Amino acid sequence: MSGDTYLVTGGAGFIGSHLVDRLLEAGRRVICLDDFNDFYDPALKREHAAVHRGHGGYRLVEGDIRDRALVERLLRRERPEVIVHLAARAGVRPSLKEPRLYAETNVTGTLNLLEAARQAGTGKFIFGSSSSVYGVNRKVPFAEDDPLLHPVSPYAATKIAGEALCGSYAAVYGLPVITLRFFTVYGPRQRPDLAIRHFAEAMLQGREITLFGDGGSARDYTYIDDIVGGILAAVDYPARGHEIFNLGNASPVELRELVRLLEEALGVRAKIRRAPDQPGDVPVTYAAIEKAGRLLGYRPETPLAEGLQKFARWLAARF
Ligand SMILES: NC(=O)c1ccc[n+]([C@@H]2O[C@H](COP(=O)([O-])OP(=O)(O)OC[C@H]3O[C@@H](n4cnc5c(N)ncnc54)[C@H](O)[C@@H]3O)[C@@H](O)[C@H]2O)c1
Repeated sequence: MSGDTYLVTGGAGFIGSHLVDRLLEAGRRVICLDDFNDFYDPALKREHAAVHRGHGGYRLVEGDIRDRALVERLLRRERPEVIVHLAARAGVRPSLKEPRLYAETNVTGTLNLLEAARQAGTGKFIFGSSSSVYGVNRKVPFAEDDPLLHPVSPYAATKIAGEALCGSYAAVYGLPVITLRFFTVYGPRQRPDLAIRHFAEAMLQGREITLFGDGGSARDYTYIDDIVGGILAAVDYPARGHEIFNLGNASPVELRELVRLLEEALGVRAKIRRAPDQPGDVPVTYAAIEKAGRLLGYRPETPLAEGLQKFARWLAARF
C-alpha cells in the first residue's frame, strides 16, 4: 500500500467504515470526512465511527462535502496522498424524490473534492461509482467500455456526471483517478435501505417483505470484503489518467433465489407480498471483471450463499 495519509469520504458509512478498518489495521493514517446525515439512522454511522475512534491513526472530521471552503481547507492542511471518495447520496428510488440533493452531493460534492485535490497535489483519487451507470444495458456482462447511454434514475445520472468530472481532471491536470463501479454490495453493517438487510430484518421480525416485479430481476451481489479488497488493490495500482474498473461478483442471482438463500441463512420463511416493478429499477446487473482481474488482481472469493451466512450471523447478534 503506497502513501501515508488517506482521506476516506463517507468513512462512517457501510463500505467506507470497512475500508477504514483495513487501512487502520495496515498502520495507515486515516482521515474520515462524513456528515452523518439522516439518509438512514445516523446512530448506525456513529456506531461504525466509534469502532475507529480509539485508534491513534484515525481522525474524524464531521463535515459536508458540499462545503467547498471546508473541503479545500482540509486538503490544504492535511495533504493526503490518496483520497477514496465514497461519500454520496446512494439509492436509486430516493433519488427520484430528491434529485437536487443527489446532484448537489454527488456532482458538486465530487467536484469540490477534485478541485481541492488538484490544488493540494493529491497523488491519487479513487471514486466510488456504481453499476447503475450502466442503466438498462441489454448487453451482459457489463463492461467498462460499454456506452453509458441509458441511466434510469437521477442517482445513476449523478454517478455518470461524477465519472465524467473525474475523467476531465485526469485529462486536464494529470490527476491520477480510478473509478470503481460497485455492484450491489452486502455484508455486515450493510445500509438498512438495501434489499438484503431490509428483507432480513423484516423476516426476523415476522413481517412481510415486498417483492417488486416477478422475482426474475437479477443482481450481481458482491460481498463487502471482496469490494474492500478491490479498493485496496486500486490504492496500490499505478494509475495514469482515468482508469475505470467494475468490482462485482460476475454471478447475477435472481430475486426469488436471493430470498430462498436468505431463508436458508436466517432459518426463517419469508412472508411475501408482490408488487409491480418500480421506476428506476433495472432488470439485471452483471459485472465483467476481467479488467479488474488482470490489472488489479481482483478475484471475488465469496459466493452469495456463504456471504449471506456471514451476514446472517452478524445480524442475528444484533437482534
Ligand atoms: N452499497 C452498495 O451496494 C453500493 C453500490 C454501488 C455504489 N455504491 C457507492 O458506494 C459509496 C458508499 O456507499 P454505502 O453503501 O457505503 O453508503 P452509505 O450511505 O452507508 O455511506 C455513505 C456515507 O457518506 C456520507 N455522506 C453522504 N453525503 C455526505 C456529504 N454531503 N458530506 C459528507 N459525507 C456524506 C454518509 O453520511 C455515509 O456515512 C457511495 O458513493 C455509493 O453511491 C454503493
